[in-house]
Amino acid sequence: MSTETKENVGTEEHADHHEMGFWGKYVFSRDHKAIGMQFMMTALFMLFIGGGLALTLRMRLAAGESGEFMGMDMKQFGGETYNVLFSMHATVMIFFVIIPFLVGAFGNFVVPLHIGARDMAFPFLNGLSYWIMPLAGIVMFGGVLLEGVDAGLKSGAFASGGWTSYPPLSQIAGYGQTLWCVSLIIVGTSSIMGAVNYVTTIIKMRAPGMTFGRMSLTVWSVFVTAILVLFGTPVLTSVLIMLILDRHAGTTFFTNDGQPLLYQHLFWFYSHPAVYIMILPAMGMASDVISVFARKPIFGYKAMAAAMAGIAGLGFIVWGHHMFQSGMNPYLGTYFMIATMFIALPSAVKSFNWLGTLWRGNIHFTTPMLNALGFVSMFIIGGLSGIFMAATTVDLMIHDTYFIVAHIHYVLFGGSLFGVFAGITYWFPKMFGRMFSETLGKIHFILTFVAFNCTFFPMHVVGAAGLPRRYAAYIGDGASTTWAHLQPYQEFMTYSAIVLGLAQVLFLIAVIYSAIWGEKAGRNPWKANTLEWTLDSPPPHGNFHPDIPTVYRGPYEYNSDLVEEDYLPQDRNLETADAGSAGEVEGSSGEGTA
Ligand code: CU
Repeated sequence: MSTETKENVGTEEHADHHEMGFWGKYVFSRDHKAIGMQFMMTALFMLFIGGGLALTLRMRLAAGESGEFMGMDMKQFGGETYNVLFSMHATVMIFFVIIPFLVGAFGNFVVPLHIGARDMAFPFLNGLSYWIMPLAGIVMFGGVLLEGVDAGLKSGAFASGGWTSYPPLSQIAGYGQTLWCVSLIIVGTSSIMGAVNYVTTIIKMRAPGMTFGRMSLTVWSVFVTAILVLFGTPVLTSVLIMLILDRHAGTTFFTNDGQPLLYQHLFWFYSHPAVYIMILPAMGMASDVISVFARKPIFGYKAMAAAMAGIAGLGFIVWGHHMFQSGMNPYLGTYFMIATMFIALPSAVKSFNWLGTLWRGNIHFTTPMLNALGFVSMFIIGGLSGIFMAATTVDLMIHDTYFIVAHIHYVLFGGSLFGVFAGITYWFPKMFGRMFSETLGKIHFILTFVAFNCTFFPMHVVGAAGLPRRYAAYIGDGASTTWAHLQPYQEFMTYSAIVLGLAQVLFLIAVIYSAIWGEKAGRNPWKANTLEWTLDSPPPHGNFHPDIPTVYRGPYEYNSDLVEEDYLPQDRNLETADAGSAGEVEGSSGEGTA
């Protein structure tokens, strides 16, 4: 095919081109866009599994002492089953929803387009990083396949030690704990494969003129996140292998007279940075979306990139704040407290710069913008409650209460998931060639925003009142009198959670509806500057035809004095009179100065 030869004209060696059938194109694709969308669809599917688990445990909580909720007998979801529910809910949401959404889906779809590359550096490895994820899912839920749900629950086929799986609890747990460890080793391997790809692609495959200082903050965020993964995830993999050895080979790392606290140190050495893996890409995407829809350059671009690197660096020296209650030398605890509080600085830089970007902007309240604003506002609430918990003495009081549950959900749902919704609705036209329904998108946002706050804000209140987390029901002689007055909160939070769940069903409907019947999108429906908007929607295999574009400026030139329109695409050469990003072929003759 003639286009095949043309595709290979460019600065980068492109992935080998052979005729691809249905399987090669849609299933075992090596195209970064297809792989990104596979990650997205898988994460969207898993969102409903994780959400279903969450609703079940919320309904158990609302049932309280009577064990009945909305006419259903929820008693069966108490005890060990409840432990399985919250362990699996957290595991699914963290490892199969948020990380695949942020890193797998958006990293893959956006990074090569934003830096002007034809694909990722290692397309085969990229496909592999996706295809071992279903394997991880099968191992995680292997108990269902082997024994079914009921028998599996009885025989310990599901992990129930919380997503942290501290020994000795995880030592005495059933075989589901081993499945959990193996599954997360596979997920970690997938993450490391992805991270190697992102770092290599971003360093080696940027288009001419695309300096580090001209990369979008989405690319910066994925770059920083990938480095976090490379340093952190191998530690998690190691600690999981050690746990398996303790369980099955009689080693004494953590149990059998080993050091249970060592597990916590190693686990959190990965898992604190992991919470930044789960939020940094959302920060990058929200920055891009806010700049586009405020029609203003991002406020403090360099500070925004530096703040992400700062958060990542600090992320490796604060893990002990998860262990204040585990027993710790007070001097060491004080160090971890102070180091943790330092994270407030780069976080505040980011928050104020988002506000600075919005200040006197020409704000367009589109669906992606609403979700990005939801991200910023909810992240600020989650960040502020994080400062409470950083204080050792406060943390000792609230650590095992619902206050922590409120915090993590403000960061991971209010933060990360609103970032995901902003990203999906913003790049939807580029992914599917059709616009995301604004009507359905806005209804989804409003329902989600209200229901989210009704579900999780009261957790601050009951947490401050001392309500312990990880209890199925607050029953028994003394306890029922202590916590009975908080039961109406449980019911309110559960009704809100049901609305929150239904709103996500609406989102799924909106995705399917828009992909099929949405208004056709042109190349650049948002009038944005980054390179993906110079391409067809969706872009062809190999992205840039026939040549890789030349980049002349950063991505945030909105309302520039240099041009009449309020945007100035990155690849537009102002020296040649008729060049424009809407042009089919342009920029390649530019000398690449400026
Ligand atoms: Cu932490």
